[in-house]
Amino acid sequence: MAESMLGLKRSHRCTELNMENIGQAVTVMGWVQKSRNKGGIIFVDLRDRSGILQIIFEESACGAEYFAKAEKLRSEFVIAVTGKVEKRQGSINENLVTGAIEVRAESLRILSESETPPFPIEENSKTKEELRLKYRFLDLRRPDIQRNMTFRSNIAILTRQFLAEEGFLEIETPTLIKSTPEGARDYLVPSRVHPGSFYALPQSPQLFKQLLMCSGYDRYFQIARCYRDEDLRADRQPEFTQIDMELSFVDVDEVLDVNEKLLYKLFKELLGMEIPLPIPRMTWQEAMDRFGSDKPDMRFGMELKDVSEVVKDCEFVVFKSALENGGSVRGLNAQGKGNMPRKKIDALVEYAKDFGAKGLAYLAIQEDNSYKSSFAKFMTEEQLHDLAEAMEGKPGDLLLFAADKNEVVWDVLGNLRLEIARQFDLQKKGEFKFLWVTEFPLLEYSEEQGRFVAKHHPFTMPMEEDWHLIDSDPGAVRAKAYDIVLNGTELGGGSVRIHQSDIQSKMFEVLGFTPERAQEQFGFLLEAFKYGVPPHAGLAYGLDRVAMLMVGSDSIRDVIAFPKVKDASCLMTEAPAPVEDKQLEELGIKIK
Ligand code: AMO
Ligand code: AMP
Repeated sequence: MAESMLGLKRSHRCTELNMENIGQAVTVMGWVQKSRNKGGIIFVDLRDRSGILQIIFEESACGAEYFAKAEKLRSEFVIAVTGKVEKRQGSINENLVTGAIEVRAESLRILSESETPPFPIEENSKTKEELRLKYRFLDLRRPDIQRNMTFRSNIAILTRQFLAEEGFLEIETPTLIKSTPEGARDYLVPSRVHPGSFYALPQSPQLFKQLLMCSGYDRYFQIARCYRDEDLRADRQPEFTQIDMELSFVDVDEVLDVNEKLLYKLFKELLGMEIPLPIPRMTWQEAMDRFGSDKPDMRFGMELKDVSEVVKDCEFVVFKSALENGGSVRGLNAQGKGNMPRKKIDALVEYAKDFGAKGLAYLAIQEDNSYKSSFAKFMTEEQLHDLAEAMEGKPGDLLLFAADKNEVVWDVLGNLRLEIARQFDLQKKGEFKFLWVTEFPLLEYSEEQGRFVAKHHPFTMPMEEDWHLIDSDPGAVRAKAYDIVLNGTELGGGSVRIHQSDIQSKMFEVLGFTPERAQEQFGFLLEAFKYGVPPHAGLAYGLDRVAMLMVGSDSIRDVIAFPKVKDASCLMTEAPAPVEDKQLEELGIKIK
């Protein structure tokens, strides 16, 4: 039977006790990790979120009644024990914080019993994630997940402290808002009061934070829940949390400065690491040219090289036609991998095809300086030599080339670079390499929509020196946009915003909005811009991603208390779920 707390008060968490408490009477409470009955003595490992403490029951100390009760203890029972702290009788357990002590029980209450859990509550669980997520309330008891949750909480607390010290105000913005078509797909919420009308859940507080700038709250932040109905990956969830901020009367440098200080503080206080400041900056163009990615992993080299010039006169049609069609030929040098078996090279070719490559050309430089290659027969010895030289190829190296439109070549080689790094363990755990990627293109051509779309969002400020190209060559206009990248993951991004209504109107025009549609969608913002707008800029981090990288996990689910799985469902609550007809009726909704 479950007993009550009447007259009991917890005096310590399990691992708050140590040699200094010897002789003290204490009351501890928690879950039974393990109970071993050795005849006249029962050992219980008691667990709470601080860790584990050994309790011993002996009839001589606790009496027959409590000893009999202790004999009934099973894993995950919740108990309260009052007793005395003693030096451990047996050998000291170096693995436990409390390994030198134990509590000799004098009384015991069973606060709650437990069925046998579907999996053991232990560190580094080998249980399938699916089962763990179904019983997430049990999974969350495991020490590694509890550490992650504590870590995440510390990030949020430190962030609040830091931003408050820097003069930011924490302001909440609504989560039932108007749907805006740019960006990812919205989650919609039907309105009962306005049948046929819908709220959207915010993809970010973007418009509201800009309005707050208009309202004079010159430094805002919020730890904000955001919702995006997009395909999930290891670092994406349909609902996630941003550390969101906006500043008035600033340009790029001030936003980056304050954020470098924030990152420095988080890494220093939570990991004891000093990030070298300033964090290096690289333009988007340079990132693409050197790494084939706008979020390059800077922990290793293997940079891309453009060899279009070198191969422009060769007879290899693959190279020739790519160049004739305005594309490029680029390569990367997998140093020392020249003896990669054919099968593994073929696997790389297949991998490249996943990213849109029509093929992948390779040139392996043998120890005797001869070549093994998929295209050597189309080139002269001299051309091959020049190509190898341009790639700084040495005997034993494997050179890989892609020829296509720039976008395809970047994507293929950028991903290939990561794949090779994974295969050969070039991404060292525990190493943190930050990078600002700046000067993103303002616009991006969408083949699907047959028009330009905003690369960041429609409120991003173009670079002054490029603005004259907006009609003649919109794709060439760069933006005052920046991303903070860590080890190949985009941690956050932001931009300086447009605060001039003529530039904003022009942006909408380029994006294919009629003035009427712009008015309909963003009328409130355009209206606000009529009444005095300070220049402003901001940034948002994915808090989940920050936590994921800081705790060294590969999955965002490890740092979210109740995450969703790939198909955006929750295995524990079984959301989403059908609703009752009556609810639909009230909302005026019929399911097709
Ligand atoms: P952006 O769309 O780049 O910018 O988002 C900012 C950061 O949020 C995180 N993030 C996600 N994390 C988990 N799951 C997702 N589905 C997901 N989508 C995004 C990423 C990303 O870098 N309003 C702008 C910011 C600004 O301009 O100030 C915005 O939302 O880490
Ligand atoms: P093929 O003449 O089609 O057999 O191609 C010769 C070699 O070029 C093969 O190794 C192909 O994988 C490679 N190849 C084909 N298309 C491309 C491309 N777009 N970029 C780089 N290599 C390619």
